[in-house]
Amino acid sequence: MEHVTVIPIMLILSFLQCKTVVSTSLSNGQRDLVDGTGLHNVLWIIKNESSVTLFWNNNLTKEETDKYTVKYILSYKFFNTTHERKERLQEKQKRIHLDLHPGFNAKVKTQLFAKESEDVIKEGHWTELSYKAPPVYIQNLSCIIYNISSFNCTWHIKAEAPEDIQVFFTCRHVRKDFECQQYIQNARKKNVGCHMKEIYFQAARKIYLNITVRDLRNNSGGLSYYKAFLPQTIEKLNPPINVSVSLENRSIKIHWKPPPTIGSARRKCFLYQVKITDRKIVNVTAETYEYPFHKPAKKCSAQVKVKKEVCVRNKIWSEWSEPVFIHNEKTLDVMLLSLMVFGVLIFFGGLICACRRYSCLEVITMPVPRPSDNIQTWLAADDIHHQKEMSMQMQMHLEITLGITLGITKDDGDENVQQQRCLKESGLEDL
Ligand SMILES: *[C@@H]1O[C@H](CO)[C@@H](O)[C@H](O)[C@H]1NC(C)=O
Ligand SMILES: *[C@@H]1O[C@H](CO)[C@@H](O)[C@H](O)[C@H]1NC(C)=O
Ligand SMILES: *[C@@H]1O[C@H](CO)[C@@H](O)[C@H](O)[C@H]1NC(C)=O
Ligand SMILES: *[C@@H]1O[C@H](CO)[C@@H](O)[C@H](O)[C@H]1NC(C)=O
Ligand SMILES: *[C@@H]1O[C@H](CO)[C@@H](O)[C@H](O)[C@H]1NC(C)=O
Ligand SMILES: *[C@@H]1O[C@H](CO)[C@@H](O)[C@H](O)[C@H]1NC(C)=O
Ligand SMILES: *[C@@H]1O[C@H](CO)[C@@H](O)[C@H](O)[C@H]1NC(C)=O
Ligand SMILES: *[C@@H]1O[C@H](CO)[C@@H](O)[C@H](O)[C@H]1NC(C)=O
Ligand SMILES: *[C@@H]1O[C@H](CO)[C@@H](O)[C@H](O)[C@H]1NC(C)=O
Ligand SMILES: *[C@@H]1O[C@H](CO)[C@@H](O)[C@H](O)[C@H]1NC(C)=O
Repeated sequence: MEHVTVIPIMLILSFLQCKTVVSTSLSNGQRDLVDGTGLHNVLWIIKNESSVTLFWNNNLTKEETDKYTVKYILSYKFFNTTHERKERLQEKQKRIHLDLHPGFNAKVKTQLFAKESEDVIKEGHWTELSYKAPPVYIQNLSCIIYNISSFNCTWHIKAEAPEDIQVFFTCRHVRKDFECQQYIQNARKKNVGCHMKEIYFQAARKIYLNITVRDLRNNSGGLSYYKAFLPQTIEKLNPPINVSVSLENRSIKIHWKPPPTIGSARRKCFLYQVKITDRKIVNVTAETYEYPFHKPAKKCSAQVKVKKEVCVRNKIWSEWSEPVFIHNEKTLDVMLLSLMVFGVLIFFGGLICACRRYSCLEVITMPVPRPSDNIQTWLAADDIHHQKEMSMQMQMHLEITLGITLGITKDDGDENVQQQRCLKESGLEDL
């Protein structure tokens, strides 16, 4: 593991003679420097398994080293990124984690400080170095820890990757190595993710990923990529628990408790968002939220989600908790009562109507000697009614036919009026 390869250095000395202006944050506000053309650095790189270490030296004399405080400004930028990392160091080396970057450009310069005043006395020129890593065939690596002990990572295989590769995933946490438990594959049967569960995570210890791309046609070791996370930074919490709602003198009060988490569960670590139907989502740091309301009859639901914000940088929100419905009990009581009254009224109203139609009042009030008599009475009543209807319909029909024939024999122009009058007269009112 400790095999170390010295990569031939790519040394690009900058021969700019003009004074380089350092950003104020790094130059102590001192700009009136002695031109340090004599301060030269030599850079080289040592690559180990999971990172590269950038080294440099200076060509200062013993006198200079004794007289001044020596510091270095290192600046580096991964290929195809815009973010430039800049730092001032006293040591002559820096370990750089490539993760999935294909390489970087780095530059270093020496600064001499007066021991007493900490003013910059002399400053050298940049010395640059460019490091190109072996090809990187995967991208968009993303990992998530959820439900305390489950762990998912996913990645994409770049289009330029050779056809016959396969991707293998291992990780290391608290001195234990884990093989991938369950690979997630794409349509071409390539591994593009890994699902692990029942891993006991320790908040303060990093998870080290080792993703190795092997060419299946040959037995070469393959290319390994490394990345490390602190568990808490990739943790997706479960939704808040025990969410409840209460109504207190014209305000809605929502309570909840934080879900279990890896590492610190101090109150101030959690940031919550509360969503109440139709209202804007609000950020809350307490475990309760209260808001006054003016339309108590409206039914609405409340949901809460959570992430860690203060103690640790984490961008992943939990899912929303199951909705909890808010209803005003007093309104509900009044509504229930009116509903009941309404129902009773409808029932009796319906009963009376039905009774009128089927003359059941008579039936009910009639003495009931035997069940068969009862049925007969019903049938008889119905029969009489039916007969009445029939005779009425026949009468109507006759009158209408008569009216029409009369109309035709009379004046043609009056026909319609006549017909209408007939229809009216034929006792439509009766129906
Ligand atoms: C450091 O190296 C540069 C270039 O090689 C040279 O000009 C300068 O004199 C050297 N400084 C010391 C102190 O050796
Ligand atoms: C990344 O940068 C290198 C040179 O710095 C360039 O050759 C390459 O095409 C770039 N790749 C992408 C994906 O932009
Ligand atoms: C994957 O990463 C590349 C660059 O690293 C980016 O351009 C692309 O949008 C990403 N794709 C997805 C689906 O996130
Ligand atoms: C979360 O983990 C617990 C215990 O490990 C398990 O019983 C439960 O099914 C898990 N829930 C989900 C949604 O995976
Ligand atoms: C993790 O991966 C498993 C297996 O593919 C999947 O069932 C689960 O939904 C994933 N969970 C998350 C939170 O991504
Ligand atoms: C990463 O995984 C590969 C393949 O399993 C292995 O050959 C390599 O030694 C591992 N690297 C480290 C640093 O463990
Ligand atoms: C074996 O793998 C190495 C590294 O990926 C590659 O350079 C070489 O061409 C491969 N050989 C064959 C026969 O595929
Ligand atoms: C959540 O509610 C359950 C049942 O009501 C209770 O047993 C548990 O202690 C509560 N949890 C918290 C953190 O209050
Ligand atoms: C709600 O009632 C409590 C006492 O029960 C009272 O102290 C408080 O001022 C009331 N709040 C409002 C907004 O009326
Ligand atoms: C709530 O917090 C998130 C995360 O810190 C932030 O991005 C967002 O702007 C905040 N929203 C409001 C309304 O303050």
